[in-house]
Amino acid sequence: MSRDWHEWHRRYDEPGSGLSRRLVVVRGALQGLLEAATGPVRLVSICAGDGRDTIPVLDASDAIVTGVLVELDPELAERARASAPAGIEVRTADAGITTSYADVCPADVFLACGVFGNVTDADIARTVAALPSLLTAGGQVVWTRGNNVPMDPTSHDGDPAELVRGLFAQAGFEEVAFVADDDAGFRVGVHRWPGPTGTPRAGVRMFDFV
Ligand SMILES: C[S@@+](CC[C@H](N)C(=O)[O-])C[C@H]1O[C@@H](n2cnc3c(N)ncnc32)[C@H](O)[C@@H]1O
Repeated sequence: MSRDWHEWHRRYDEPGSGLSRRLVVVRGALQGLLEAATGPVRLVSICAGDGRDTIPVLDASDAIVTGVLVELDPELAERARASAPAGIEVRTADAGITTSYADVCPADVFLACGVFGNVTDADIARTVAALPSLLTAGGQVVWTRGNNVPMDPTSHDGDPAELVRGLFAQAGFEEVAFVADDDAGFRVGVHRWPGPTGTPRAGVRMFDFV
């Protein structure tokens, strides 16, 4: 495990922390996507932690949502599993390889929150390039990127979220929303795949946490 992710999650409990402010934005983005849905929604969340950015939103929504949360840490995964609503499976698995969730894709909503600050630029590029194969036509990705990550793995000169936005644009995605909070140092993006429904493939390595 690359960091103490239990300790990382504890920052959510500090009122006003950057992480708790980011959580409000991510939840709001997911809520907006569910409100706009015109039918059942298939959701995938990779590196899902304890699921706090998804599960309360799903609980409060009238949308019919099925899908998976994928989290490597058994304790965090178990916490998510304990509160996940019907239709949501929590898998204790490596989300860096599509084998862990290709069977439930293509997804209408795909969350990659807390991922891009922990992987190399090449892995971000690989992940973004693979996403169209994992999405329905019109499927949307909610992603985050910190702007003051300790020992940031990027070699990008400048705001690393701009690298991520550029990669989404290069892959043919449309930007739906982008929130940058300079005080808290986070960015949250929502990108829509305007192309055809993808053909998910197992066995594609997208990233490894550094
Ligand atoms: C920065 S946290 C983000 C958690 C959650 N998405 C959030 O934003 O609250 C990164 C999470 O990824 C998990 N993780 C690390 N490597 C992973 C991998 N290869 N597959 C799945 N989860 C992984 C960690 O255990 C941790 O819970």
